[in-house]
Amino acid sequence: MSFQTIEQAPARLNRSELAVPGSQPQLFEKAAKSDSDVIFLDLEDAVAPDEKEQARKNIIQALNDIDWGRKSMSVRINGLDTHYMYRDVVDVVEQAGQHLDLIMIPKVGTAADVYAIDMLVTQIEDAKGFTKRIGFEHIIETALGMQNVTEIAAASRRNESLHFGVADYAASTRARTTMIGGVNRDYAVLTDADADDHRDVHWGDMWHYAISRMVVAARANGLRPVDGPFGDFSDPDGFRAAAKRAAVLGCEGKWAIHPSQVALSNEVMSPSEEEVTRARRILEAMAQAEKEGRGAVALDGRLIDYASIRQAEVLVGKAEQISQG
Ligand code: GLV
Ligand code: MG
Repeated sequence: MSFQTIEQAPARLNRSELAVPGSQPQLFEKAAKSDSDVIFLDLEDAVAPDEKEQARKNIIQALNDIDWGRKSMSVRINGLDTHYMYRDVVDVVEQAGQHLDLIMIPKVGTAADVYAIDMLVTQIEDAKGFTKRIGFEHIIETALGMQNVTEIAAASRRNESLHFGVADYAASTRARTTMIGGVNRDYAVLTDADADDHRDVHWGDMWHYAISRMVVAARANGLRPVDGPFGDFSDPDGFRAAAKRAAVLGCEGKWAIHPSQVALSNEVMSPSEEEVTRARRILEAMAQAEKEGRGAVALDGRLIDYASIRQAEVLVGKAEQISQG
C-alpha cells in the first residue's frame, strides 16, 4: 500500500438511484415507496425552463413533508452555466437542507465548479445552523469533466460519488450513439475468416474507457462510482447487460430512469448469496492459514492470498450493509 491513505466517503447504499422529475409531484409518493437506495429529485434536464421555479417549490415541499423512509435523498441542481443554479442551491438548502443528504452536480467540468458550490452550501449550512453536512455527487458527462475527473474527485470533502452521464457525454464527445446507454453495432471487431471462410462480428462496449477512467478517479479518492441512465426502459435484458458491464468494471450502482429499473439494478449490484458464501470461506481459510504461518493457500483448487482477503472483505462488508438496509 502507498503511505497515502484514502479516506472513504460515508458508507451509503447506492445500488440504485431513481431519477424523479421535480416538475411531476404526482410521482413522488410512489418513488418514496420504491426500493431505490437513493432518489434524486431533478431540477435539471427533465424539467422545462418555464417549470423550474415550480419544480423547486415541489421539491422543497416534498423533502419536508414526505416520509422517504431510509432512502438517501438528493437533488440534481442545474448546471453552473445557468442562472437557475444559485437559486436551486439557495432555496432548496435553506428551506429543506436538513432533509437533504446529497446534491447532484451535473456537467461538472473543473475542480473550481465544485469549489464554488461547496462555498455556497457551506455558507447556507452555517447560517442555518445545520449540523448534518450535505454530500456531493458529480455527473461526469462532458469531455471537460472527463479530462479533469481526477481533480474533480479530489476537490471537496463533501464528495461522495461520481456518476457516468452517458447521454450528455455522447453529445459532448460527439460519440455516435442512438440510444441512451446503449451500444453501437459499428463499435465491433470483425474476426479474420476461419477455415470455412466464416467471419464473426463481436460487438464491443463503447463506454468501456469512460467508465473505467471514472472508476479509477472515484476509487483513488474513496468515492462511489455509479453508472448513469439506460434509456430503453422496456428492455430489461439490455439494462441488466449494461449494469453488469458497469459492475464488472467496479461501479457499485446504476441509475433508474423508470421505477421498473430499480429492482434490476439492486439485483445486479448486490453480491449473490453464492459469492458471499465463498467470500466468507476465503476469510476462514486465510485466518486458518495465518494461524499456521502461511500467506497463501489453496481453496477449491485455486490459489488465495492476502489480495483475496481484501476482495472478500469488500464483498462481505457490502452484504452486511445491504442486510442492515
Ligand atoms: C445524465 O445526466 C446523462 O446525461 O446521461
Ligand atoms: Mg446529463
